[in-house]
Amino acid sequence: MPNQDLVGQHILITAGPTREEIDPVRYITNYSSGKMGYALAEMAKKRGALVTLITGPCQIPIPKVDEVVSVLSTEEMLHAVMSRYEQQDVVIKAAAVSDYRPTDRAVQKIKKQKEGSMELSLTKNPDILWELGKTKNDQILVGFAAETENLIENATSKMNRKNLDLMVANDLMQPGAGFHCDTNQVMLLYPNGQSKSLKLEEKKKIADGILDEIAYLLKEKKA
Ligand code: PMT
Repeated sequence: MPNQDLVGQHILITAGPTREEIDPVRYITNYSSGKMGYALAEMAKKRGALVTLITGPCQIPIPKVDEVVSVLSTEEMLHAVMSRYEQQDVVIKAAAVSDYRPTDRAVQKIKKQKEGSMELSLTKNPDILWELGKTKNDQILVGFAAETENLIENATSKMNRKNLDLMVANDLMQPGAGFHCDTNQVMLLYPNGQSKSLKLEEKKKIADGILDEIAYLLKEKKA
C-alpha cells in the first residue's frame, strides 16, 4: 500500500503538449508524450490525492483519476486550469505548452506556392503558469523546465518569474531524460536556493520523488 500522505489534497496536473492549428490539416506542437504528467497523476492518486488531470493530445493510456479534461490548444488549457484553480491545494504544470500560435488559422487547407518561400506569422500565447503565479492564494505551484543549455540558470529564472514553490528542471541533453522516454533525471530547485537531484529512474519513481517534496511542503504550510 503506497504512502497515504496526500489524502484529501486537491492536486491539478497538466500533461502532454498543446497543439496550435495552422489550417485544417497542419499544426505546431512539440515532442511531449504525456508520460511524466500521467505518472504524476497516477502516483498522486495512489497516495490519496483528489486528482484533476488536464491533458493535451497524447497517445498513451489515461490514468484513472478523479477528473480528466482533454484540451488541444494553450488557450483551452488556460481556461481549463484557471476555472479550477481556486479549489486546488497544488498545481503541477508538467505540460509542454506552445509559446506561440499561428496569428490566423486558415479555414481552408493552405495551398503550396508555385515558387519561393512562405512565412507563417505567430502570436504569443498566454503563459498559464505566470498567470497562476500572479493570482496565487495559498496554492503550492510546481513548474517544469526542459532546457538544452544553462539548465539551472534558465530554470531558476523561470521559477522566480512565475512565483513558483518548486521547479523541476529537465536536462534534455542527458540520455534517458526529458521528452518521450520512460525514464527521467531531474533537479529540484527551491526559491531559497536549495536544490536536490533525482537520479535517472522510471518516470513513476521520479513522480514519487517530486510528490515526496510536495507532501513535505504541504506539511510545512500546515505547521
Ligand atoms: O511528456 P513527456 O514526454 O513525458 O516529457 C516530459 C516533459 C519534458 C514535457 C516535462 O517533464 C517538462 O519538462 N515539461 C515542461 C516543458 C517546458 O519546456 O516547459 P517551459 O520551459 O516551456 O515552461 C516552463 C513552465 O511553464 C512549464 O511548467 C510549462 O508548463 C509552463 N508554461 C510554459 C509556457 C506557457 N505558455 N504556459 C505555461 O504554463
